[in-house]
Amino acid sequence: MVERFAAADVIRAKRDKGVLSPEQIDWVIDAYVRGVVAEEQMAALAMSIFLNGMNDDEIVQWTDAMIRSGERMDFSALDRPTVDKHSTGGVGDKITLPLVPVVAACGAAVPQLSGRGLGHTGGTLDKLEAIKGWRAGLTAEEMFNVLQEVGCVICAAGPGLAPADKKLYALRDVTATVESIPLIASSIMSKKIAEGASGLVLDVKTGSGAFMSDPLQARKLAETMVRIGNDSGVRTKALITAMDVPLGLMVGNALEVQESVDVLAGGGPADIIALTVTFAREMLELVGLTDIDPAETLRDGSAMDVWNRMIGAQGGDPAAPLPVAKHSQQILASNGGVLTQLDALKVGVAAWRLGAGRARKEDPVSAGAGIQIHAKPGDQIAAGDPILTLYTDDEDRFAGALSALDGATDIGPTGTPITRLPLIIERIG
Ligand code: URA
Repeated sequence: MVERFAAADVIRAKRDKGVLSPEQIDWVIDAYVRGVVAEEQMAALAMSIFLNGMNDDEIVQWTDAMIRSGERMDFSALDRPTVDKHSTGGVGDKITLPLVPVVAACGAAVPQLSGRGLGHTGGTLDKLEAIKGWRAGLTAEEMFNVLQEVGCVICAAGPGLAPADKKLYALRDVTATVESIPLIASSIMSKKIAEGASGLVLDVKTGSGAFMSDPLQARKLAETMVRIGNDSGVRTKALITAMDVPLGLMVGNALEVQESVDVLAGGGPADIIALTVTFAREMLELVGLTDIDPAETLRDGSAMDVWNRMIGAQGGDPAAPLPVAKHSQQILASNGGVLTQLDALKVGVAAWRLGAGRARKEDPVSAGAGIQIHAKPGDQIAAGDPILTLYTDDEDRFAGALSALDGATDIGPTGTPITRLPLIIERIG
């Protein structure tokens, strides 16, 4: 086959701050998947994009080329409208778990393809795998059947979905080219658009525990993704939300499943309930289902019923006890006063070091490891009160977690003003 371009010319154009043509972008993505563009050439191009950016047309074309590298799912045969949510990830961010059954209980179908955690933010699949028997890997037919019967499914993306992104993401991970708005936006949106939902609500997190700790960068990422989604025919909105403090009171796989089940049972922490209900309203509005109050599905048990059926349909036993870590250690308040700080990033890194997360893609995670939070910023505490409980299966991990938590909390005199980001910062789209 005669190649239409030479990789070095495409790299040179971007290196010299040029604009890539649609033909160049289509070719480079396709040739990369075919192995004609070598890893080192794509690494050089990714770094040129990282340094010099892409304009809106280039980003849309790049995303589209990555979608066309694989299959595009089609749920138009379902008897309900499809809508999904994606979070850029945060510490204690288990919102997908209660949200998906809530939205299905209100009448929409939610085909949620999720990932595993890498680094300090957890992955939805790792969390659900804490449930005995639950399977993340479904065939396209199994996925469709669960969706049709239950109204929602959470599973792993198959190898055929945006394969260009899979290859490129692994390369970016080892070449320091992840933190680029055009590359992040096209990576996330290629998978979400290929997934075939007709509506999408994005949760773009900002604050110390988020990918985009700077709110201005978070807004830029949100605007870019909303534009890509709407240009591709997927109705897309984004909320920018706080990730300066961990969400809820549990961080870790089984711990977060337990907290999600508490929310589905009508309890749970206020921030998790608020985000679940807010995202559910946004998703339902996108597909025109505005006559049901999602909060009601938490009160009347209908969301819990959907959850039990979804877990069961994927081989899980929703009634089985969740794994508990072998060892625990409490961190106590050295003095009384008001908790003024609980840093999301430090808590996330500590939970990861306790075994809740993985350093390399192939590492296993511990289901029981993590951190229980006893006090959040603004809470009054007395000397000796527990602030955190650390859980791990391997006692040797406590030292690393404790050093990650150095400076994570601060206690000030009663009345000290607390500076926290608002839970929902901005709505885009
Ligand atoms: N998540 C993705 O899927 N891709 C990125 O580039 C970053 C986060």
